[in-house]
Amino acid sequence: MTNKSSNTVWHHATVGRADRETLHGHKSVILWFTGLSGSGKSTLAHAVEDYLYRNGISTFVLDGDNVRHGLCSDLSFSDKDRVENIRRIGELAKLVIEAGIITLTAFISPFKSDRNVARNLVPHGDFLEIYCQCPIETCEQRDVKGLYKKARSGQIPFFTGIDSPYEAPEAPELVVNTSEQSLEDSVQAVIQLLKARGVI
Ligand code: ADX
Repeated sequence: MTNKSSNTVWHHATVGRADRETLHGHKSVILWFTGLSGSGKSTLAHAVEDYLYRNGISTFVLDGDNVRHGLCSDLSFSDKDRVENIRRIGELAKLVIEAGIITLTAFISPFKSDRNVARNLVPHGDFLEIYCQCPIETCEQRDVKGLYKKARSGQIPFFTGIDSPYEAPEAPELVVNTSEQSLEDSVQAVIQLLKARGVI
């Protein structure tokens, strides 16, 4: 995207990310959850946040459905708008980790290239991709929001997994199989990842 804000100068803060991380008592990182609608991204992100919060760790969840009510309410589900959706979330997540906070994002983020753009916005190791793997049949059976039914009957065009693609990650930092693992096991797998990476 072309930068239309050319006459601006970056302001360097005297308080930096490392200072804020010291204040919080832990490092910051992006936990990027990706997967089909109904694969359990939001559920897992919020359960991880709950665990971290109870352990005194500063977190913030950016959730697809919520962000699309505000910051991204001008965007549809066309490929072009999904690219822009993920671009904005990547930039927002980058700002939130600068605040020294662990940022959890729960977006389908169906395209590999967009997830890689978000990954490359931040220093190496600060973007941990977590693939919420779940067969579409299971997502469809769950159909928590009733959207698969609508999509199958043609009421929602370009629905991910039906008539819009989902590109699974090739080398995510973590895969959780949400149709086989319990929520608690998935939470613990994410916590272990954070510990192994020295974040908490
Ligand atoms: S993304 O593709 O741009 O990453 P995002 O995570 O923000 O998607 O939003 C996905 C949520 O929007 C789904 O969980 C579902 O509730 C809703 N939704 C509405 N229309 C669609 C659609 N055509 N495809 C996928 N999800 C949709």
